[in-house]
Amino acid sequence: MNTVKTIKEVRHQVKVWKKEGYSVALVPTMGSLHSGHESLINRAAKENEKVVVSIFVNPIQFGKGEDLDSYPRDLHKDEIVCDSAGADLIFAPKADEMYYKDIEASVSVKELATGLCGAKRPNHFAGVCTVVSKLFNIIPADKAYFGEKDAQQLAIIKRMVRDLNFDIEIIGCPIVREKDGLAKSSRNMYLSSKEREAALILNKSLTKCRDALSNGEKSTKLLKKIIKSEIEKEVLARIDYIEIVDAFSLDVIDIACKPILVAIAIYIGKTRLIDNFIYEA
Ligand code: PAJ
Repeated sequence: MNTVKTIKEVRHQVKVWKKEGYSVALVPTMGSLHSGHESLINRAAKENEKVVVSIFVNPIQFGKGEDLDSYPRDLHKDEIVCDSAGADLIFAPKADEMYYKDIEASVSVKELATGLCGAKRPNHFAGVCTVVSKLFNIIPADKAYFGEKDAQQLAIIKRMVRDLNFDIEIIGCPIVREKDGLAKSSRNMYLSSKEREAALILNKSLTKCRDALSNGEKSTKLLKKIIKSEIEKEVLARIDYIEIVDAFSLDVIDIACKPILVAIAIYIGKTRLIDNFIYEA
């Protein structure tokens, strides 16, 4: 497995592979790889002959006061994870390789980016879509792999691919969790041991909601109340949002009667964590 840092090098390698008839997969990441990312790489390696993992902490998807500077970075460790998970190539550009200083063109997103995580992170999904579309143009892969952990991101990228006619198939992969239920995240390493314990409230509250759905509860107002009262039991937790939306349109709904996305964002101390599940009502 090789690591390259320039667009020219990654383009050249992928072109050679395509010419030789290999199927190519792309797994976009921001590094600090854990078993959630690993599951995407594993699946990509199973379903394709060549796998490129991009590792790039994309500055334009971070807002003011967010953790761009402190975001964990360890390329050496990431190379070991990628290699053992079955990647063939890492593309790890610096910011000035990806962005001209006088960038004019970018991708924008309308309604899908306004709710959930987009409500308090107004430019986040435009930043994600811009970098992902640049990666799709740099690396002409057949398939790209994304986690359901970032459900809104996955829905928006699928829509962007449809709307802008990218010739790539988007594959969504299930959330990987710690043994105790906490969804794996690069940001979990910010948590103290007390906060780590408190963070279990995310999955616990979602489980309560899923149980209520299984028992026939359809009112999203009531379902959200169940999640809220569970989270309020945890003193270190502060609610950013609790939403139940249509899984495709991400529109807020009153009655859970088709595939729904139940999504939450909770601050544990200073760390903002997200979790979700999709329920095929
Ligand atoms: P990052 O947070 O590094 O995540 C890269 C991919 O890994 C995303 O598709 C994310 O959903 C997936 N992932 C993270 N944790 C996961 C888990 N516990 N289980 C399953 N999949 C998981 O998401 C980004 O980077 C960026 O926004 C990016 C798409 C790379 C654009 O910059």
